[in-house]
This record gives sequence, structure tokens and C-alpha cells, in this order.
Amino acid sequence: MANNFSGRVSLALTGASGVQYGLRLLECLLRADIQVMMMISKAAQVVVATETDLPLPGTPDAQQQFLQQHFGAAEGQLHVFGREQWMAPVASGSGAPAAMVVCPCSTGTLSAIATGASNNLIERAADVALKERRKLILVPREAPLSTIHLEHMLSLSRQGVVILPAAPGFYHKPTSVEELIDFVVARILNQLGIEQQLMPRWGESFLS
Ligand SMILES: Cc1cc2nc3c(=O)[nH]c(=O)nc-3n(C[C@H](O)[C@H](O)[C@H](O)COP(=O)(O)O)c2cc1C
Repeated sequence: MANNFSGRVSLALTGASGVQYGLRLLECLLRADIQVMMMISKAAQVVVATETDLPLPGTPDAQQQFLQQHFGAAEGQLHVFGREQWMAPVASGSGAPAAMVVCPCSTGTLSAIATGASNNLIERAADVALKERRKLILVPREAPLSTIHLEHMLSLSRQGVVILPAAPGFYHKPTSVEELIDFVVARILNQLGIEQQLMPRWGESFLS
């Protein structure tokens, strides 16, 4: 899977509300010339159907073709892997990208990652990111949070995982849902070190 793209990122969509964050992130990564290794859980597909009008197909191959066309990705830029596709690059430290984002991250997947379950490709890819000490960014969305959720987040944070809640700020006076989504996506792109124009960095007006 050699490529001429600017970078490679793994992106998993899981079944928490706010799948729009993950889809917008995918769009931004593709526009930034990043090759994306994608995984979409069964529950995430239910959330896509519930929260968006996107007619996302049910199989990884069809999803890849659909998303590639929908976002105008270049040939070979987007790969969608299935839940038990253990031969995918993300399943091993020798093939996985340097960074992985789970956005949105369900509390179920958060818990599986915290305990090293590795029962599906998303959990395994996150486990690989942990064991290889790579960048792992989780974007949970739940309210309120239980003690179990908080303990898992603390445990992961202590291992270097970035817990980046889907909790947009309002100090930029958003006037649309898109602006709220971009607030969170900009934070993720900043964490990945990818240039973004979605949201100015704090204090930037003093520098221009
Ligand atoms: C429409 C919808 C919204 C959901 N919202 C959330 C949520 O915000 N946070 C969460 O942790 N789980 C949420 N769930 C529940 C998860 O999808 C469920 O626990 C699932 O088993 C997670 O599986 P996954 O981690 O493999 O995607 C939601 C489910 C549906 C169908």
C-alpha cells in the first residue's frame, strides 16, 4: 500500500452520536492529501442512518467506493476495512499509520480499548497504536459520564492517549451546526499536526 500522499491516518467511526464529526474529519483529511485507513462499526452505520441523509452502503468495499466518490478522494487515498479484516495494515505495528483517531468514540469502544479487548479491527488497531506508542486520539460523546467511563479515560490518558471530547466551545459565536462541528474537527487536526483553516488558534489575532 505504498503511496505518494502527504501522510497516513487511521480513522474509526463508532456508534456514538455525532457521526458528523467523523465524516467532516474524513473530508478534511482527504482534502489535506492524507491517505485514510477507515473502519466503520455496525453501530456507527446505524448512527449514520439516524443522524444523516447519507446513503452509506453496508459492506466495506461499497462504503469505500461510496465515500471515495462522495468526497472526491483520489485513487488509492481511502481504504475501508471490515470488522474482522485482520490482514489490514492497521492490524499490525509494521503496517499501521503513525496516528489513529476514533471519532466519534462510543463508550463501548472506549472501554474495549482501555482493557485491550481487540475483539474487532477497530479495537485491534487502537491496541496496536497503544503498544507501538503511536498517537491515539479518542473523541467520546456521552452525557453524563459514569465512573467507569471516567476511569477508562484516565487510564488511557495516563498512557498518552488524547481524550478530546466532542464538546464544542461557543466563544467564536457559532451561527450554524457546521461551525460547531468544525470547532471539534479543528482541534483534532491540530492534534494531528495537520494545517487547518477551519478555526483560528487562540490568540492568533494578536499575531497578524
Ligand atoms: C442513534 C444512536 C446514538 C447513540 N449514541 C451514543 C452516544 O452518544 N454515546 C455512546 O457511547 N453510545 C451511543 N450509542 C450506543 C452505541 O452505539 C452502542 O453502545 C454500541 O454497542 C457501540 O458499538 P461500537 O463501539 O462497536 O460502535 C448510540 C446508539 C445509537 C443507535
